Amino acid sequence: MAAATDPMLKAAALAAGRLLGTAVDETALTNDPQYRATLAAEFDYVTPENATKWGPLEPTASNYDWTHADAIVQFARDNQMAVKGHTFLWYQQNPSWVSTSLSASELQSAIKSHIQTTMTHYQGLVRAWDVVNEAVDTETESGYKDNIFFETLGPDYIADAFRWAREADPDALLFYNEIGIERVGEKSDFAYQMLSDLLAQGVPIDGIGFQSHVSTHRYPSDTDLRANLARFAALGLRVNISEADVRDTVMPGSAEARALAQRIAYQQITAACVLEPACEGITLWGFTDEYTWLQQEGDFNPLVFTRDYQNKPAYQGVLDGLRGLLPKRGNNLLRNSDFAAGVNEWTTNAGSLSVAAASGRDGNAACVDGRSAAGDGLVQSELLNQLSDGGPFAFSAWVRADMSSELDASLLIAEQDKDPREFNIATTYADAGTWVELSGYLGLGFEATPLSVGLKVYGPAAQVQLCVADVVLQPLTVE
Ligand code: XIL
Repeated sequence: MAAATDPMLKAAALAAGRLLGTAVDETALTNDPQYRATLAAEFDYVTPENATKWGPLEPTASNYDWTHADAIVQFARDNQMAVKGHTFLWYQQNPSWVSTSLSASELQSAIKSHIQTTMTHYQGLVRAWDVVNEAVDTETESGYKDNIFFETLGPDYIADAFRWAREADPDALLFYNEIGIERVGEKSDFAYQMLSDLLAQGVPIDGIGFQSHVSTHRYPSDTDLRANLARFAALGLRVNISEADVRDTVMPGSAEARALAQRIAYQQITAACVLEPACEGITLWGFTDEYTWLQQEGDFNPLVFTRDYQNKPAYQGVLDGLRGLLPKRGNNLLRNSDFAAGVNEWTTNAGSLSVAAASGRDGNAACVDGRSAAGDGLVQSELLNQLSDGGPFAFSAWVRADMSSELDASLLIAEQDKDPREFNIATTYADAGTWVELSGYLGLGFEATPLSVGLKVYGPAAQVQLCVADVVLQPLTVE
């Protein structure tokens, strides 16, 4: 059976010199001919969505069930697709025998033998492995995820796993894979430091995967994404986008606005990889909404084909991204956005506002002094006319605080018969006295008739001076 329309993604990826991958669900592969046809026509890289996780592969100690994983690897071979194995060590989907009742040395030998047996079975057939997945958790005291491996072995399990994997198959590429580190920030900083330390100790890590499970209503800007990819690449790592999907249901508003926001999210994630020389590929976490893992959590439509295999606008987003095109930016919707006209058009919800030549930057900056809470900052009201249709926008501002702080931007939204809501559109962290770019993309939609929209930049603790320069809010459009 043929795919619904002429397949275009794989050829575009080839032209861009990038792999284009997808997670593969073995049940769908076996039962759904259109799934198989679309997979083979559009992609040249596959990651078993579940079949090569520890639990499915080795349900009881030393008893392996290769059936499901083998079916995927065989399909890939038959269709000239490369395979990425996923994943040896993760906190989910482990077999029940891998538990805290194992001693440290028992757990180590279980890990070692699982990695060796699996990599030997797939030697020459699997191009790369996600050796460790989601080991970082900045909510814990240590910064490491409290999984069974960390609890029993401490952080050394990570280096050991990579060393054992290299020993087992020196030809396979070894990846670290992580969720929620797409933007520069606390979690990606921790992952960056961890990987640079491991590499400095000679641990054999070839690459890093940025999962990129994002949402239309708020996601990293391309500058943020690209800066983040580039710093990991500068460590000598290959980088890839490893599990991209874009939830659209958190964003209220029309189906068209949401579809456009989703398309643009895919476009900028894909383009960020194409524009970064060390980025070797983009893997989507599935391709038809029929089988997305997010259905378990509600009625999400995060992928590039509809449930009956029609191309969505998101498909065109991936295609444009593969051509290296970033979304087009319209005019800045903010008034007096560089403070050339002093405080005109700007207010503060607490404290005092003044405009002067920015110290440490060209042009003017607006500074707010005497703030009485972290939520106090610089405000521009009356943006409803420009924003009433909703849709995707890019936001950016340069910000500086007197004390090392988290910095934020929000839209302040009032709608008919609704409680006013504050919609955070960008967050960053700045060292004291340093200008940083605060940026993000947002899909704006309204839950009811909108009455007013304002923009606020804020964040540092009470009394800390906050300065802002060059504030930009632009609608995003496509070719
Ligand atoms: C998900 C699968 O898609 C689901 O089918 C399964 O029930 C749970 O795991 N990060 C990862 C992936 O690294 O392995 C996860 O996959 C999604 C989040």
